[in-house]
Amino acid sequence: MPQLSRLFIRASLIYLFLGFTFGALILANKGIPFAPWLWALIPAHIEFVIIGWLTQLALGVAFWILPRFASSSPRGDEYWSWAAFILINLGILTYSLAPLVVLSWFQPLARALQTLGLMAFVLGNWQRIYPLKFPNLKDPI
Ligand code: HEM
Repeated sequence: MPQLSRLFIRASLIYLFLGFTFGALILANKGIPFAPWLWALIPAHIEFVIIGWLTQLALGVAFWILPRFASSSPRGDEYWSWAAFILINLGILTYSLAPLVVLSWFQPLARALQTLGLMAFVLGNWQRIYPLKFPNLKDPI
């Protein structure tokens, strides 16, 4: 498994842990109210499970497993996918800090970083989506 996939997947597992912990705390606080401020963790909970965990897990596995090229750079120009990892994680951190920062452009900035990150991933891996042909099989797989 390439280094970037390991990074994506390790980051996704950290966000899984944080996202579920925040969810469990919010849930516990609903049953037995002990810290009203826990409701402020809802945006971070949603961000961590959907982008931090699920999206990064999918990207990490995709980068590893999409068909490779028969060349010295089998995963194409990897800089695009590295840029995706950095931009997406900067976006998650920016979005999570937004409630603490009194700047109205912080959340849009976070979404812009993540959108650029996803676009970078698509650019870097688009050409890896091609059918594999084997001489003894009629249809490509
Ligand atoms: C893939 C996993 C998960 C996803 C995608 C997810 C997503 C979400 C979303 C979108 C909301 C906002 C719902 C709304 O505004 O109506 C939410 C709220 C919440 N989540 Fe999660 N969640 C996940 C896992 C968990 C887990 C494991 C827990 C608890 C252990 C949890 C506890 C909560 C609680 C307590 C709320 C607040 C519900 C309320 O408004 O009363 N979530 N979650």
